[in-house]
Amino acid sequence: MLIGCRDAEKGEKAVAEMNKDGLIVGLQVVNVNDKETVEQVIEQIKKEYGRLDVLVNNAGIILDRAVPVLEVGESVIKETFETNFFGALRMIQEVVPLMQQWKYGRIVNISSGLGAFEIMSGQGQIQIGGSSAAYRISKTMLNALTCLVQDIAEMGIKVNAVCPGRVQTDMGRADAPSTVEEGADTAVWLATLDEEGPNGGYFRDRQPISW
Ligand SMILES: NC(=O)c1ccc[n+]([C@@H]2O[C@H](COP(=O)([O-])OP(=O)(O)OC[C@H]3O[C@@H](n4cnc5c(N)ncnc54)[C@H](OP(=O)(O)O)[C@@H]3O)[C@@H](O)[C@H]2O)c1
Repeated sequence: MLIGCRDAEKGEKAVAEMNKDGLIVGLQVVNVNDKETVEQVIEQIKKEYGRLDVLVNNAGIILDRAVPVLEVGESVIKETFETNFFGALRMIQEVVPLMQQWKYGRIVNISSGLGAFEIMSGQGQIQIGGSSAAYRISKTMLNALTCLVQDIAEMGIKVNAVCPGRVQTDMGRADAPSTVEEGADTAVWLATLDEEGPNGGYFRDRQPISW
């Protein structure tokens, strides 16, 4: 297992903690905003391991928390799309040819229910105001990407999106209802799907949710 991290020092710390728990984990330093480092890291994986079975697009930022949609700056929107959408697109474009060689792959896009049309349009049961538009639309774009690439199933590759719920991380904050383990559960399930498993879906708590 490899973790991709833009900050080598933080990555080494995370790897050391996981190794202590008995997990064999390697580190790849990658900034998903930078196409060149994405290409380099996939090339490195190709050389070292020859294959890549699973990609979890987890990198994400929220820069406009609680900022009303009418006040959010264009640069904030662009910066958010750069990581949350283009970052995932870059990773997918680079890994699919490698997965295709082995006719196997599982891609998990870590999205958010905040980007679901059902919720943003107020048609669902949950309604959450008009703030954090940059973040939310970036996740809508990630969801659209998940739909549009689903024909990679022909190559033995499955792609799904997941909303982890609000999780106790730096982004979700300490008062979030879900632990990191709970938040990661659906992503781990999607990363390890067997051939019968879903493709092109959007899930929370291992259940399909509306786009
Ligand atoms: N926590 C929640 O409640 C919640 C809810 C719904 C969805 N999500 C989604 O879950 C995913 C993980 O979020 P989190 O809660 O763990 O957030 P987090 O605590 O803020 O962590 C985000 C991670 O993404 C990394 N990252 C950001 N930009 C990057 C880039 N350009 N290249 C590589 N790595 C980058 C960060 O690296 P640094 O450490 O270097 O900053 C950090 O490790 C995100 O996609 C988020 O949108 C989270």
